[in-house]
Amino acid sequence: MVTTIWFILGLSVTRVVYGGKCGDVFDDLPKSCCPAKYVDVCCPLAKPCNASAATLTPSMMTSSPTQTSGGKPFCMEPQNSSACGAGFFLNKHSMKFEPCPDGFYCPQDRLCIIPCPKGAYCVRDKLVNATKKSPLLCRESGKCCDTSQSSPIFDSHAASKYICPGAKLPDPCPPRYYCPNVTIKKTCPSGHFCRNGSVKPQRCPILSICKKGSSAPMSAPGGVLLILAILVVMLLLLLCFNHEEKLIEWCERYVTKRLFAKRRLRMQESIRRNTLDKYREEAEPKTQTITIRFRNLSLSLKKTKVAILQGVSGQLLPGEVTAVMGPSGSGKTTFLNTLSGKAYYGKRAGSLFINNNFVHDLGVFRNITGFVPQEDIMHRTLTVKEVLIYQANLRLPSSISKDEKEKRVNEVLDLLDLVHVKNTKIGDEESRGISGGQRKRVNIGMELVTDPTLLFLDEPTSGLDSTSSLMVVDALKAVAEKKKLTIVCVIHQPRYEIFSKFHKVLFLAPGGRTVFLGCVSEAENYFEMLGFQIPEKVNPADFYMDVIGGLCKGSDESTSTLPERWEQYAAGNNAGAENTDCADGSRAGPDDGIEQLSFKSTLKLFKRNPNKDQDKQMPNFLIQFITFLRREIRLQFRLSRSLLLDQFLVLLAGGTLGALRKEAPLDDFFALVTLSSLAIGLTAMLSALRCFGSTRAIFWREAAAGVNRISYFVAVNVAQIPIIVITPVVYLSLLYSLIAPRAYFRFHYAATLGVQFACTGAGYCISAIFSPKNSQMASVTFALISSLLAGSSPTLCKMKDNKLSPVYSLSYSRWYLEALFEKEANRYPDVMKLYVHEISTRNGYTLNNYSACIGVLFAMGFAYRVLALLFMLFTNRGKQR
Ligand SMILES: Nc1ncnc2c1ncn2[C@@H]1O[C@H](COP(=O)(O)OP(=O)(O)OP(=O)(O)O)[C@@H](O)[C@H]1O
Ligand SMILES: [Mg+2]
Repeated sequence: MVTTIWFILGLSVTRVVYGGKCGDVFDDLPKSCCPAKYVDVCCPLAKPCNASAATLTPSMMTSSPTQTSGGKPFCMEPQNSSACGAGFFLNKHSMKFEPCPDGFYCPQDRLCIIPCPKGAYCVRDKLVNATKKSPLLCRESGKCCDTSQSSPIFDSHAASKYICPGAKLPDPCPPRYYCPNVTIKKTCPSGHFCRNGSVKPQRCPILSICKKGSSAPMSAPGGVLLILAILVVMLLLLLCFNHEEKLIEWCERYVTKRLFAKRRLRMQESIRRNTLDKYREEAEPKTQTITIRFRNLSLSLKKTKVAILQGVSGQLLPGEVTAVMGPSGSGKTTFLNTLSGKAYYGKRAGSLFINNNFVHDLGVFRNITGFVPQEDIMHRTLTVKEVLIYQANLRLPSSISKDEKEKRVNEVLDLLDLVHVKNTKIGDEESRGISGGQRKRVNIGMELVTDPTLLFLDEPTSGLDSTSSLMVVDALKAVAEKKKLTIVCVIHQPRYEIFSKFHKVLFLAPGGRTVFLGCVSEAENYFEMLGFQIPEKVNPADFYMDVIGGLCKGSDESTSTLPERWEQYAAGNNAGAENTDCADGSRAGPDDGIEQLSFKSTLKLFKRNPNKDQDKQMPNFLIQFITFLRREIRLQFRLSRSLLLDQFLVLLAGGTLGALRKEAPLDDFFALVTLSSLAIGLTAMLSALRCFGSTRAIFWREAAAGVNRISYFVAVNVAQIPIIVITPVVYLSLLYSLIAPRAYFRFHYAATLGVQFACTGAGYCISAIFSPKNSQMASVTFALISSLLAGSSPTLCKMKDNKLSPVYSLSYSRWYLEALFEKEANRYPDVMKLYVHEISTRNGYTLNNYSACIGVLFAMGFAYRVLALLFMLFTNRGKQR
């Protein structure tokens, strides 16, 4: 739909632009009036200055019927041919050929005179003595005509016996001079510059130098000053960013010392106590809990129909942590995804009950569900605390106060032993931040901080040392028991202490089949029953994994029949399917006084029932937008180095182009602007790829958690506005100074801003469609094709002939070119209008369409953004579940 609107818009503007016949060459001489004195010898296309003056006669245009010799026009006689040539006219009164008077020009083969237009310099040549340097022509008479350097005409009536011709064409006032009227030429004063055709000197622009007799401002010093200023600002910003951590710490210390001294003392005291004990004492159990029951849960891949999870039955109770274990590829992640409604790539079978109510999908409960993915998906340039705070602000209800959110974040930091690194950046492969294990804990903290009722974790301890793993599982157990959370956790190679901490365990065999589901303490009895005795000094968890993997030959039982044995056992003992208290009594089912969340009320939560469960609502659009915006601004500050580098490269691109294309005349203008559109388009698009491209996974994770995707998109766009506004200034700072175009800076800025806006939109669109590894190539191709369709070569006229109108209307370069060409061409003096019109009509550009062109560029940017949003919303939908 957007594309259709865009096409219609593009075509309608195209029609407005090309009303005339493309490719026509103007044959319209500049209009000037003829004073009374010359009115009867003026050519008819020049109107008399005084309306009452006699009408000019067309017969004077080319020949004089009265002045003939041998039946031919007089001027064609060989001996007098020069008198009829350029620079002479026929005086009607004396019937003599005379030099064209000052202020007029006399083209070849015309007998009348034409007044010179503004900006021209039309005076008669002066007679000068021939010098050694003069050409051969002057030797005979010993006289020369100064500017034409040609031999003068002999005239016995003239006092000097020789005469020189007048102006042959309306030549523009030469560069370095200005011509206040067509007969006066003055040297350009200092502090000003005078291009060819100048009527008055132009004031030298700011930050430029114009010596006396300058044809263009020397702007390089200004450009250098600007670069220096930009570099100083960059350095200052970098210094600030480098000390950001210290600044934060200093502020915290100062504020804590002065204002919260008492509180701080209390805090220090409590830190000394064991954080987990403290948590166990202080944490309040949830008033509503969730029990999940699943029967014959299966999943087969949509494409290949291969079953990767088969007939898993059991239940997950509040207050319990259930471990999911099995060899690699056995379907642990699949089980988690199927349960949580994220297995978009497969067809699910089996039934699912929440608090004894049948549900199709757990996805509808996402605002009370936390999912910790296997990968550490988070903004790597934020600090640990910032990551958690933004999660809390985005996903906790707005009814919870800021202090309360801060308290929850601190609680999670305490719980996961992250307090000492709370102000350290997460870091990545390039810039070192917190350790891999700490990052894993932040990953868990991101969900814990949102206070979920149901929590899924995919390998939360992978990559952690065994002490940290124990600490994480301890924390999870504490949270589950104290807050009555339902937790399911995929785990790899747990040491004995960790394994024994879980309430229940689900063992999966390859193919996603159940080997065992029950209390951890019962696993030993079960495997013993099957004939697998745990040898001494062997970790039970490792032993069970060996049994499932077929490495343990302690029994006659074939490991491939383990799933069947479990099915028989489960059918006989009703194991796994019902509430089963574990022998150690650690299971904490729904306690008295705790409400089992009914299906209806859970759904109400999702629908945001304002009465009862307000504290489960996600913040509204505006609050999420503000949170996203603040996060984006902070991220931009953190990315300052690459942003500054971007600006430097933009400056370099502009500077190089400017240096190579100094004072480009109008003919060269198309090539210059086409290159310019390529440069600004490419830099804009490539830097825009970062906005959505590199953060796709984070967007998907947050979308899956239920945040408002439109508020995120709008916030990123708003946060980019300063960069979009500043970049054209940086780009033009050198380019504009060096090429010194005739068009005002503001017109160049507006057009470049339009391109920047359109191309960043295109960048967003590309990053929403392509994966990061393909998007750069796609951007380069897009910018290149747009530049080829700019209308420089081949011209718009040619492309119209080839019926390419709809295609080139989609090129941002084409609108940029026309907008700037118009403003440049319109600044040419009257005397050069013919030249300007010829170029514009030959290429197919109009000279009154600037606003429409800029409008189209902004409309393009807007359309690309809408497309990008649609792509983000409707592609990769499975990953957003
Ligand atoms: N989207 C998918 N497309 C194709 N095959 C898939 C997909 N997801 C899972 N599988 C296959 O299903 C099986 C189980 O995968 P799963 O990721 O659940 O294993 P896992 O037990 O989590 O393994 P690991 O311990 O290595 O993470 C594997 O053989 C995997 O190749
Ligand atoms: Mg996995």
